[in-house]
Amino acid sequence: MLQIISDLEDSQFNGKRVLVRVDFNVSVLNGSVSEDYRIRMTLPTIEYLSKRGSKVVLASHLGRPEGPQHSYSLEPVAKRLSEIIGKKTKVRFVNQCVGETVHNEIEKMNKGDILLLENLRFHKEEEANDLIFSKQIASLADIYVNDAFSTSHRRHASTHGAVKLFDIKLAGFNLNKEVGYLSMIKENPIKPFTLVIGGVKIKDKIGALENLLPKADRVLIGGAAAYTFLKAKGINTGNSVINFEHLPWVTNALSTFGDKIMLPSDHVIASSPKGYSASLVKGDIPDGMIGFDIGNETVERYSAEVGAKGPGTVFWNGPMGLFEIGFFANGTINIAKSMALAFWRGSKTLIGGGDTLEAMKKAGVSEGEVSHVSTGGGATLRFLAGDEMPGIVALNEK
Ligand code: 3PG
Repeated sequence: MLQIISDLEDSQFNGKRVLVRVDFNVSVLNGSVSEDYRIRMTLPTIEYLSKRGSKVVLASHLGRPEGPQHSYSLEPVAKRLSEIIGKKTKVRFVNQCVGETVHNEIEKMNKGDILLLENLRFHKEEEANDLIFSKQIASLADIYVNDAFSTSHRRHASTHGAVKLFDIKLAGFNLNKEVGYLSMIKENPIKPFTLVIGGVKIKDKIGALENLLPKADRVLIGGAAAYTFLKAKGINTGNSVINFEHLPWVTNALSTFGDKIMLPSDHVIASSPKGYSASLVKGDIPDGMIGFDIGNETVERYSAEVGAKGPGTVFWNGPMGLFEIGFFANGTINIAKSMALAFWRGSKTLIGGGDTLEAMKKAGVSEGEVSHVSTGGGATLRFLAGDEMPGIVALNEK
């Protein structure tokens, strides 16, 4: 059972230094943030603590740098956070994440101020879950808050080692919301439960699928993942991407759950991702051609399952095709629109994975037309697979 920030008396936050592990691992292009969903999702927690007089110290990673690298600095994120929060609250940035400079900056903070630390991964000790580094992090604050669901599958110093050194450690609102929605999907989805699985890598999804397949009423497979399923059924997939090492797993899944699994019946194919030669084919994909999107007939069949049934639960992970290229975006865009329809018809709809969020935007579907868009990629799939989440477990450990 998670203890969340609103479980503590307001007075306990007053004047206290609160370290909030956030996941500000966002896209930064030419020195400015191009996608800020993860930043916005932490606002309820940040503002809650700031309003109660805490000194809010935010810690995050950005990317996978090897030592300090300017292009991985969190400074642009501090700028974006300041813009979002507005003038009423001060957001500062410090170009270190541990040590004397940081202690001095925190010392200067007034109640309600917000300070973002530099990228934790500038120190290799972060990912090594190093004890001394953990102690340095823990020395910065009185209270620890984890609001970084999307990093909670990592056993790092800021998500695990340091956490155990705090007496008071709590979940933020975003972490709690993610756990609530994803637990519902994992344990007790409202029926009918429809799974929409796309993307390329089957490997990352196997754990989640093993848990969810028995619970689902319908499973719609699209994206490159579909060609491995079609191959297992003996359908010619041309030169499409096949996850050969997972063919046995897919064959087994088809024999156990074949009655609920739907596969594409037509495809948008081309000889290369440039798509100039794109055409529509039903059934087998000719040799030399590659499937890049689900075809119109499949779009209709899938849309009818997602948008027209219910109200139940729909979980969508992974695009239906190479939607970044206009020729191959139709399937993904239509599934996004059907997700919105399902939501308006009363279903609980959940989307996981960064590229699926991109796809929604491309389809003109707003975040408000989905019950929950998970901030997690790998973390969401690991949670659904029932794997241990060190960042969550640590909140309950001494
Ligand atoms: C993510 O984007 O999935 C998280 O921020 C974790 O990042 P990582 O995969 O580099 O640990």
